[in-house]
Amino acid sequence: MATWSAPGKVFLFGEHGVVYGKPGIAMAIRPRVFVTVRRSRVAHHAKSPYIESCFDEMGVRGSVYVNSQLPSSSGLGSSAAVTVATLAAINDEFGKKNSLEEIADMAFAIEKKVQKGRASPTDTSVSTFGGIVLITGTSRRRLAPHNFQMVIGNSMVSHNTSKMVEKVADLKAKSPGICNPVLDAIGALTMTAMHHMTDPNSLGRLMNMNHALLEVLGVGHPAISRLVLASRAAGAYGAKITGAGGGGCMVALCPKHLKSRVAGAIEACDARAIITTLDTDGVRKEKDV
Ligand code: PMV
Repeated sequence: MATWSAPGKVFLFGEHGVVYGKPGIAMAIRPRVFVTVRRSRVAHHAKSPYIESCFDEMGVRGSVYVNSQLPSSSGLGSSAAVTVATLAAINDEFGKKNSLEEIADMAFAIEKKVQKGRASPTDTSVSTFGGIVLITGTSRRRLAPHNFQMVIGNSMVSHNTSKMVEKVADLKAKSPGICNPVLDAIGALTMTAMHHMTDPNSLGRLMNMNHALLEVLGVGHPAISRLVLASRAAGAYGAKITGAGGGGCMVALCPKHLKSRVAGAIEACDARAIITTLDTDGVRKEKDV
């Protein structure tokens, strides 16, 4: 029996742009997914296409138990965390010798297949390696850690990543003259943010701009806008959608002493707040349960 866990993630900058090769910055966060895999002769019958694909990819059979602290379909990368932790647990339980790089690549291939071709390697890279990661196309670079103080607001409106990615693809096809410069601007914001990683005031302003650009792309949602505005009014440096949008979560960068106030403002909007910070650990082995 082998138990491994992998972290969730938030996008600080660049979601949707990353699907078109623009740079994005994402960060691993504390809620984790725990996966236990056990050898067994009986084929497992997990309903998740992600878990099913992990066993197919590794060419083995076994039973699997998932314990997730991450809400699903909310933009916090739960499907990537499940995929990465399952692959790592299979790797361990069956004595396979895949490296972390190979696990990250396999997890990305699985996400891409399940999501019908439209996915960036962001979630799977962050879940595998932890920390803060700069993604450009298919390349990834781990950035220096920063102790960002974040509050996540879960609107509880479930979103569908593929649908949102398709929505942007439609806009890009119908109005390339509008959509392409917006995607370029999202990439430019990411690159600007790289020079301000130690300046939360500037990062917050850039996050606010990123949020506005995501709304231009049509992936906003009234429930998310409410949380973004409430967080800013409660003293956040900046706040934006995180993930595909159309519901799901937003993230606010906050002064440490205002985290509870921002969380309270989010909860007052009938949403769930998660106070969190960077998780520098990626996928890791846990004590068996
Ligand atoms: O909502 P999530 O966590 O699945 O994030 C989606 C982010 C996109 O950039 C829209 C798609 C992707 O694969 O990067």
